[in-house]
Amino acid sequence: METKFPFTDPSNHKPLQLEEVNGEQHLVSDGGSRYNIHDAIPDLKYPTELDPIDQKAQVFYDNRAKAYESNMHLTFKTHRVNEQKCREEFIGALDIKNGDKVLDLACGTGRDSVIIAESLGDSGVLCMVDIAVEMLKICKAKMDKFTLQKHFCTANACYLPFPDNYFDSTYSFGALGEFSDIKGSLAEMVRVTKTGGKIVVGDESMPPWLRNSYFYKVLKTTNPQFEEIVPLKEIPIEARDFRLRYVINGVFYLIDFRVGEGEPDADFDFAIPGVRGGTYRTRYDGQLEGVTPEAKSLLFEVIEKKGISMHEWLDELVKNGAEKELKGGKQS
Ligand SMILES: C[S@@+](CC[C@H](N)C(=O)[O-])C[C@H]1O[C@@H](n2cnc3c(N)ncnc32)[C@H](O)[C@@H]1O
Repeated sequence: METKFPFTDPSNHKPLQLEEVNGEQHLVSDGGSRYNIHDAIPDLKYPTELDPIDQKAQVFYDNRAKAYESNMHLTFKTHRVNEQKCREEFIGALDIKNGDKVLDLACGTGRDSVIIAESLGDSGVLCMVDIAVEMLKICKAKMDKFTLQKHFCTANACYLPFPDNYFDSTYSFGALGEFSDIKGSLAEMVRVTKTGGKIVVGDESMPPWLRNSYFYKVLKTTNPQFEEIVPLKEIPIEARDFRLRYVINGVFYLIDFRVGEGEPDADFDFAIPGVRGGTYRTRYDGQLEGVTPEAKSLLFEVIEKKGISMHEWLDELVKNGAEKELKGGKQS
């Protein structure tokens, strides 16, 4: 196993060290967490007792790994599209550069991992993660021929065992809808991906305009996952340059975005011309159609001192001020 890879404790993101006792290897943390390694695959699944949804997925794919690998191409065949070309195109959205570190999350049997490895050449780092070790074993066997730095572990997509800002890009295809915590998993993808890095996710879902079609009804009878909706509400606020499209004959969505810092920002401080005036910021922070936050806090001091409501004081202030102005205007 590649020991210089910085696996972290999925429970708290603290570093893990390799420990060997009586020929058995473990990854251990300062806090006392201990993770087993079997056949050079660290088991970093967390929590120990998985959510029933994740547990079900693990059992399902562990039992069907070989069948999955034999039959997966049928999804693409059904829609008369070329699997290799489709996957290459999806992976193209990662904007992979030489030497990049890439995460293939819920990599399954590695059908995308091999394409990512080809894009990375010899200089990159590719980490392949899945909750089902039997899927990962097939992936690992396929990856033998590649000489780049490659790492495998079983882990739960909702608790990733990697440090913050580690990967240049993160990819996950065909799995998001199966995670127990989609929002949490997307937040984890953002956490482990560098600012400016790319995230590409895709899964089954049919667009709203097809939901009454024969096409939809036939497909969802065999695979109810086509009923899933695109998880737009779960997309993290750090998403920038967000793009959504439907692929594979319109039955999967593909989302790609760049990771930003916090929520988006804009110029809220230029004076807006016109009768209403003020700036975007004074209109929101002032809550008085354009007073500054400073004026607003003075207002609170006044109403506290006078023991009256904001409405009473403002109403009187505006009436008095306006009458004075209008009378003054008549006099002149
Ligand atoms: C439909 S397969 C897709 C595999 C691969 N990405 C592909 O495109 O062929 C879904 C994969 O998600 C994995 N998976 C499901 N829930 C998971 C979770 N909570 N954490 C990590 N992997 C998970 C399954 O074990 C399975 O390998």
